[in-house]
Amino acid sequence: MDVTLNVNGEARHLRIEPRVSLLDALRERCGLTGTKKGCDHGQCGACTVLIDGRRVHACLTLAVMARGKITTIEGLARGEQLHPMQAAFVECDGLQCGYCTPGQIMSAIGLLGEGHAKSDDEVREEMSGNICRCGAYSNIVSAIQLARGRSA
Ligand code: FES
Ligand code: FES
Repeated sequence: MDVTLNVNGEARHLRIEPRVSLLDALRERCGLTGTKKGCDHGQCGACTVLIDGRRVHACLTLAVMARGKITTIEGLARGEQLHPMQAAFVECDGLQCGYCTPGQIMSAIGLLGEGHAKSDDEVREEMSGNICRCGAYSNIVSAIQLARGRSA
């Protein structure tokens, strides 16, 4: 099938089979390998991207169904200037091996956009679908609260 994805403000024209996931389309066809493949089953959150500002698991989304503006980790920085959430993650050391980090950052941006999860406990609840095997969770919560404070 021919499909056009709107990724990070660019139209990407792909010819793909209908069963191809958005995750594979992004990584293997668009060359955007910042979005990570952890479980490929909707359980780890490593593949989280935003579609029209809402968090989705790219591994559970068919590329042909991905309507709207897709934002991946590559679409956040403006040149050399990091997105405030990326900067907060660096500042709070919210990453160790970094494998889960793109999904964590995309999810964090999504939850701030949703306008809830103001307490640390709520942030933990909202981020519970993103698994970090290195255990950087407390620094991730700090980073999200730092970014929230700066965007308020
Ligand atoms: S790779 Fe999609 S949730 Fe794990
Ligand atoms: S930083 Fe290693 S999995 Fe999260």
